[in-house]
Amino acid sequence: MGKGKRIGILTSGGDCSGLNAAIRAVVHCANRKGWEVLGIRQATLGLMARPPQCIKLEIDQVDPLLTSGGTMLETTNKGDPFAFPMPDGSLRDRSEEIIAGYHQLGLDALIGIGGDGSLAILRRLAQKGGINLVGIPKTIDNDIGITEHAIGFDTAVNIATEALDRLHFTAASHSRVMILEVMGRDAGHIAIAAGIAGGADVILIPEIPYSLDRICDKIKERQEKGKNYCLIIVSEAVRTQQGQAVTIANRFGEFRYGGISQYLADQISARIGAETRVTVLGHIQRGGTASPLDRLVAAAFGVAAVDLIEKEKYDYMVTWQNRRVLAVPIAEAIAQYRSVNLEDTLVKTACGLGIYLGDFFC
Ligand code: F6P
Repeated sequence: MGKGKRIGILTSGGDCSGLNAAIRAVVHCANRKGWEVLGIRQATLGLMARPPQCIKLEIDQVDPLLTSGGTMLETTNKGDPFAFPMPDGSLRDRSEEIIAGYHQLGLDALIGIGGDGSLAILRRLAQKGGINLVGIPKTIDNDIGITEHAIGFDTAVNIATEALDRLHFTAASHSRVMILEVMGRDAGHIAIAAGIAGGADVILIPEIPYSLDRICDKIKERQEKGKNYCLIIVSEAVRTQQGQAVTIANRFGEFRYGGISQYLADQISARIGAETRVTVLGHIQRGGTASPLDRLVAAAFGVAAVDLIEKEKYDYMVTWQNRRVLAVPIAEAIAQYRSVNLEDTLVKTACGLGIYLGDFFC
């Protein structure tokens, strides 16, 4: 038995598959040490609320959630607590309320599961208010520095790959150019991984510029070989050939990436008359049951995070490196944005397969 710590856990930023598996692992591991785990609801909003909104997590509660998507604790990707949007339109620094919420709950430590943005905010709160923070990386974008895996990425790749598998048959049946738009924010990890796994002919990622003529050449080259269809996968942050970001704004004026696939479809069809169709996969990539690899990574991260707390090693994030879970300072991880590197094995693999990946020396 340990010293009877009370720890908090929260999920912050966009959800993804595998979050519940991580929460479950933390509860199991902490429970074996005789610790109490409080699940904070809706990320830092739960600590801002009075009384702080949390649930005491028991094994019976978390066990059935191993295969369920989303996060049982709910989350938010809005409202930086240091400039929190108030109903009157003003921005207020509410960091002290969150810090006070942590201390009111009598927590010895807090596990924050988040992407780089969330971890940066949590770290700032921790530094300001004496919060003993340990980070677990999650994001389908897989763009957090140092770690090879973030929770949610593998499931998103599986979903995008399955989408390509399905598009393959309908593309061939109708002699069409099918364009699949995937998420990933400013990194092309989902597109390149799913594109290779799903047999795409063209993979477009934000890290590599492309030319519409070369895409059309690839389609024509396939036609000359008797292949009447073409599969293209494109990351949402890929720009137009002129370098313009393609975004959609909602009625609140909030921008999200979206629409590059339709731009490409129109350009290709105008250039070579090919029949084109687009599929925008969207939040489907974040939903549903986590892949076995995501569950495995989530379990390993959950256990490692509890171990760090036992050693009172705070301000660290768990990472996956060469099949080992290693702790690195959160500051180092968030300082190193992880985009697709041109030296990456997947870049070399795509080149070796003859996939058009953009205009660079392949
Ligand atoms: O960061 C994860 C992510 O799914 C990105 O890939 C995507 O651009 C964004 O979040 C979508 O955000 P929202 O859920 O706010 O629409």
